[in-house]
Amino acid sequence: MSRIYLSPPDISKNDHISVSDVLTSNWVAPVGPHINAFEAELAKVANRQQAVALNSGTAALHLALMLLGVSAGDQVICPTLTFAASANPICYLGAEPVFVDSELETWNLDPEQLEQALKNEDRVKAVIVVHLYGQCANMERICSLCEHYNVPLIEDAAEALGASYQGKPAGSFGAFSFFSFNGNKIITTSAGGALLSNDKVAINRASYLATQAREPVAHYEHKAVGYNYRMSNVLAGLGCSQLADLGRRVAARKDHYEAYTKAFLEIPQIVMMPISEDGQSNYWLSCLTLDSEEVTPAQLLEALEAANIEARPLWKPLHLQPVFERVKTYGGQIAADLFQRGLCLPSGSSLSKADRDQVISVVRSCFL
Ligand SMILES: Cc1ncc(COP(=O)(O)O)c(C=O)c1O
Repeated sequence: MSRIYLSPPDISKNDHISVSDVLTSNWVAPVGPHINAFEAELAKVANRQQAVALNSGTAALHLALMLLGVSAGDQVICPTLTFAASANPICYLGAEPVFVDSELETWNLDPEQLEQALKNEDRVKAVIVVHLYGQCANMERICSLCEHYNVPLIEDAAEALGASYQGKPAGSFGAFSFFSFNGNKIITTSAGGALLSNDKVAINRASYLATQAREPVAHYEHKAVGYNYRMSNVLAGLGCSQLADLGRRVAARKDHYEAYTKAFLEIPQIVMMPISEDGQSNYWLSCLTLDSEEVTPAQLLEALEAANIEARPLWKPLHLQPVFERVKTYGGQIAADLFQRGLCLPSGSSLSKADRDQVISVVRSCFL
């Protein structure tokens, strides 16, 4: 039985053609027409003026924080229920994360706790909001709080390409937003990311910093410390063909979520991740929580693993991570509880109906 993965890359014939075209063109460098085309298309999808393609989402967040002037002694607010990459770049700059709990409605940044943090803390230089598992946070409240407290917002849309909130695309909010294209995301460039904004000057600066801060003169002249953060044109070629297929990918993942929901309806101990009416999720991962004394997420994981199926717990909250144990946290109980009871099921856009049925049958067998 071949392994059923959580969210593997979905590579089509068009991807082979696109990458082969790049190789034929010999633009095998972190510069070239495919990068320009990929950036233009991403900006269009996210309704932004500008995008710069980078070698990871983490690099994008690092640059966004830098461009907002975050430095040692500053605080940056970040949700606790997320991947460590949402907070690590805060520490690269010597600044301090402040973690905020999740709301139950979307599992994202809780506006009530965010307000408390903004009220109490006096060194907050930026807020990072994350759209977890492809579902947008409560952007209406979060944007208005950031405006009221005059703190810039960075949208970590790493998992949310193709999602929207009140008709506006994920990636269109705040001073900066970014996507990730690592191997498990809804589209992939194997590794990669992009930073987006409506501020052309800031994106030009990001591009300059991402290219070793090289001055535009013939010899190698540097007035600032730079980074090697640009995306390869070969990978941008893959990004172009993957992005052209985004609609199908969202539809396939949504179909998985709906099939799981239907299949588990008669099992009251399984509660699928809530989907807010304010947005259209991209259904990156189908997640659930267990409300059961008898079956734990660990047992379910074990049963799936025995059938050669990859599933994962939800993100372990950052305030529970040893590396962040001293970080100030507002709330944290909701995120901790979701982590205790949650699980992500195979959700890839290439997951076949037969494989999905296999996942469903293993999960059902643990309860019925
Ligand atoms: C929520 C979130 N933020 C940031 C990142 C970082 O992106 P990357 O892996 O491209 O650096 C990821 C993905 O890995 C993520 O899921």
